[in-house]
Amino acid sequence: MFDLPAQRAHLSEKYDLTPSPELAASMSDIYDRMSRVVSPADWAIFAPYVKAINDLKAERNAVILGHNYMTPEIYHGISDFGGDSLQLAIKATEVEADVIVQCGVHFMAETSKILSPEKTVLMPDMEAGCSLAESITAEGIEEMRRRYPGAPVVTYVNTTAEVKAASDICCTSSNAAQIVAAQDSHTVIMTPDQYLAQNVARDVPQKNVVWWEGSCIVHEQYSATDLRDFREWNPGTRLIAHPECPPDVVAEADFSGSTSGIIKYVTDEKPEKALLITECSMASNIADALPEVEFVGPCNMCPYMKKITLEKVLFSLDTMTGQVEVDADIAAKARLSVQRMIDLSRQLGI
Ligand code: 13P
Ligand code: SF4
Repeated sequence: MFDLPAQRAHLSEKYDLTPSPELAASMSDIYDRMSRVVSPADWAIFAPYVKAINDLKAERNAVILGHNYMTPEIYHGISDFGGDSLQLAIKATEVEADVIVQCGVHFMAETSKILSPEKTVLMPDMEAGCSLAESITAEGIEEMRRRYPGAPVVTYVNTTAEVKAASDICCTSSNAAQIVAAQDSHTVIMTPDQYLAQNVARDVPQKNVVWWEGSCIVHEQYSATDLRDFREWNPGTRLIAHPECPPDVVAEADFSGSTSGIIKYVTDEKPEKALLITECSMASNIADALPEVEFVGPCNMCPYMKKITLEKVLFSLDTMTGQVEVDADIAAKARLSVQRMIDLSRQLGI
């Protein structure tokens, strides 16, 4: 558990973190990437943290991997690489740093550690979990294998190392359909996201896709009626949904893709108005790069992603607390599942 007052006391002894419009002005190159969504007053608060973290990164030979759902001050202010789950997993294998700070959720940090056991992987808040990762254990995978003997298990990366270790291959939202299609079996088990599995089942009709009943608390909240109502209320808006949304929501949308797939779609298409049916920070992170697009409508916050703050990143990197460890045997088995996914994705040109 976090002892926030103690952390703050520690940080204020070592760093001058008082809001500074002067420092903020001197870092305008960074601010320019988020000036549409972060006010100058907020930037003056964030700037001392951003500077302290970026200085410390150089000192520790650290890199920060920031998921597309991070807030703009983290995504644009301190991340060396931003991306979706697949891109960050691949990046973890490529970076030469001694330390990886994972700005995302716990399963992402575990994936980095699995792929780079020699590196120190820091998770700024160990309680940044995921409803999908919490929905299944390794016993659940064995139960599915008993129910569907001989069927391969394709497991979403949003899972613990133990679950990955019990699976045959991993997938992310950007390669799930292709990974399932490539399996050498008519029946394919997908865990733990029932909606991603149902969306894949529609796209890969040649397979009998069966699934675990997990779901994402952010994306399951949307309904097809919400989308129809929105279209009626604000005609001409392009509706873009993440495939963790229920299939009727995806069917109602104009496009569906991983978080990076969504960014690419909006960047290429530049619709006049766009509603991103996903986590709230997505639209904020691309708003400045796409001034011609008006991002409209409701979004949902991921309470796990939002546990990561500049203050916690600074504390973690300063004290080297929040080191992610994975049992060596589990890591070796989990690595096979993740590496098979990366290799197959490369082979398929994803
Ligand atoms: P992607 O970034 O792979 O699309 O995943 C979204 C997500 O919910 C991660 O937790
Ligand atoms: Fe998990 Fe959903 Fe949050 Fe992603 S958005 S981390 S899938 S709870």
